[in-house]
Amino acid sequence: MTEDSSAEAPRTARPRIVVTRNGPYQPDPSIAIVDHLGVPIAAETPVRLCRCGQSQTKPYCDDSHIRRGFTDAKDPRRVPDKLNVYAGQQAFVSDNRGTCAHSGFCTDRLRSVFHLGEEPFIAPSGARLDDLINAVRKCPSGALGIGIGPARDAALSDINRPPQIEVSKDGPYRVTGHVELVDEDGVAIAQNAGASQEHVSLCRCGASLNKPFCSGMHWNVEFHDPVPDPLREPTLFEWAGGYPALLDMTRIFYSRYVPEDPLLGPLFAGMSSDHPERVAAWLSEVFGGPRLYTERYGGYQRMVSQHIGKEIQPVQRALWATYMVQSADDAGLPSDPEFRAAFVAYIEWGSRIAMENSGAGAKPPPNMPVPRWWWVCNATPGTRPSALADNAQTTNDAGPALPGSDEAVLFEQHIRPLFRPMDRNSMLFAFDLWKEEDVTKHRQAILTRLQAGTMPCDGAWPAERVALFARWASAPRPQA
Ligand code: SF4
Ligand code: FES
Repeated sequence: MTEDSSAEAPRTARPRIVVTRNGPYQPDPSIAIVDHLGVPIAAETPVRLCRCGQSQTKPYCDDSHIRRGFTDAKDPRRVPDKLNVYAGQQAFVSDNRGTCAHSGFCTDRLRSVFHLGEEPFIAPSGARLDDLINAVRKCPSGALGIGIGPARDAALSDINRPPQIEVSKDGPYRVTGHVELVDEDGVAIAQNAGASQEHVSLCRCGASLNKPFCSGMHWNVEFHDPVPDPLREPTLFEWAGGYPALLDMTRIFYSRYVPEDPLLGPLFAGMSSDHPERVAAWLSEVFGGPRLYTERYGGYQRMVSQHIGKEIQPVQRALWATYMVQSADDAGLPSDPEFRAAFVAYIEWGSRIAMENSGAGAKPPPNMPVPRWWWVCNATPGTRPSALADNAQTTNDAGPALPGSDEAVLFEQHIRPLFRPMDRNSMLFAFDLWKEEDVTKHRQAILTRLQAGTMPCDGAWPAERVALFARWASAPRPQA
């Protein structure tokens, strides 16, 4: 296993990323740029993507690299370029530690094969062949390969994806789709032995030891993107991990469960090769994400047209729902009770409507909107103390900085952050604890309960928080 077989079949007109000297990446405009949820990011051309980690307009370059004196030299302390090949009963797996970006996808997902901190690192006979192939394909750095013989087989190791740059959360650019990396003179950037030609991780924090490739240093330097409003309720789409996570799930569903099932297999025998992408786009839109299905495939009418006349049987629907939930587990979608309650509710609701629409003589109503699903009732993230959390911390966390005795107490800055999502949800039937107008109106009643220790219901506030609220409540305010 010394060579990637994809190198033997060079592609014509591969899109390119120019890795400028000591400066940003300049991708061809044809390469899509998406965030970690798979949502397209608008970019003006020419696109210049920061790779020094210092830009104030991430992911775009603002020329901070010039002021900071960024250099793109490789570090002599980097892990050596060395390809290791591990023989198994069904396949050979190759790995180059010098390419690994330490994302942990392999060791987290397939522990029976990938052994963190142990030798041998890889035991290829420890899992089913399809699980092994999936793990190799998920490796974002391209360090891993698989072949039936010792040579890396690109057809098994890589998925053919459209050219794309994913700006991963707090991490590297994940490039997919056979994008070519060249320097300013158009010369191909050398890659380590056995590296994938289809996907690669590029440094975004500026600290990699193996620039321009990611070496996992973003962990060490604690590289972080700006944190969105922590008090905003996430969508199911965001909570699930976005389009990439949902696509992982649908790919598993249609490759692992459907073909082997004698009842479901025939139902999907004629599906298009991008069927997993279509279903992931539908679920993304339903779960509150961007309108991917409507824009790419045609909205509700298109989905309904796929079911008409299929005469889906109850046992087929039940199997579809069961395997979808199993695939969610396999793909590592969140397993918290709140997410799964909403997820399973939609799978049941949606699959029963599909069955209804598929019946003989069914006349589905035309021009319906794509449904938008939400959390079930008030079961949203953070709305209850978890038995698995450190409850002392949950109820007594540090909270916002207290204002000095001569400073004004401000609702947005000091009072609103005192109320957790679970506090807000438990009072929403009456008023909104995150709205100044509502809290002002009910401040005396709230203060009485805070002082009595009966609010919040899972534990009284510390005295200094109650005093802070009392200060805010008694401050003079204009008459309504
Ligand atoms: S980059 Fe690949 S080999 Fe390295 S930890 Fe991640 S999945 Fe494993
Ligand atoms: S590479 Fe230009 S600001 Fe980071």
